[in-house]
Amino acid sequence: MKFLAYIKHFKNKIQYTLRWFRYFPYRMHGVNIHPTSKIFKRAVVKQFPTKEGFISIGKHSIIFDNAMLLTYKGKIIIGDYCTVNPFTILYGHGGLTIGNGVRIAAHCVVIPSNHNYENPDLPIYLQGHIKKGITIEDDVWIGANCTILDGVIIGKGSIVAAGSVVTKSVEPYSIVAGVPARVIKRRNKN
Ligand SMILES: CC(C)(COP(=O)(O)OP(=O)(O)OC[C@H]1O[C@@H](n2cnc3c(N)ncnc32)[C@H](O)[C@@H]1OP(=O)(O)O)[C@@H](O)C(=O)NCCC(=O)NCCS
Repeated sequence: MKFLAYIKHFKNKIQYTLRWFRYFPYRMHGVNIHPTSKIFKRAVVKQFPTKEGFISIGKHSIIFDNAMLLTYKGKIIIGDYCTVNPFTILYGHGGLTIGNGVRIAAHCVVIPSNHNYENPDLPIYLQGHIKKGITIEDDVWIGANCTILDGVIIGKGSIVAAGSVVTKSVEPYSIVAGVPARVIKRRNKN
């Protein structure tokens, strides 16, 4: 048993070192990934579309193939023990902060920005953006195919049901569902 534990420890050390080197070029481009985290080869994690913004990924997190983390000049901060599943897109724009132990299922979009649209005589694309930022606190589970809109805080321990569009902040330990997302249950802490 002791021998097996030693082998595992040794394997982890090697993996840590290999990842440190693999993630080095990311660091040169504003992306800081802890070597205990795994970024699958077909995940896209980068400053985009300009060389601005910053991404930080904590310990023991996993970004699966075909997930995209794109700065759009903003910051994307992800804590420890998080997963971002395939085809989910996390944008940086006005800032995205994700706590520890957060699960984001496949095909979600988290977008901390809106176009201004007040002037009907001007094309929307020329009116700039409003950027408030999004916070997803610790121990949140976001189901498949959800959209989280700008200005939202998803409180600790909450669950967002599959297919929801979250337009307003969510109280801690709530379960929200639907379009727009509304509370369907609360997680009982007693
Ligand atoms: C949120 C969730 C966990 C709730 O499960 P639950 O506690 O068993 O909830 P229930 O099935 O009892 O549903 C409670 C009510 O919410 C509704 N509801 C549940 N999920 C919903 C959803 N995604 N959208 C809209 N309404 C939903 C139910 O219809 C039910 O309404 P009713 O009381 O009028 O009948 C589950 O519905 C869900 O969305 N899971 C996500 C699965 C997923 O995406 N996994 C990805 C892999 S990690």
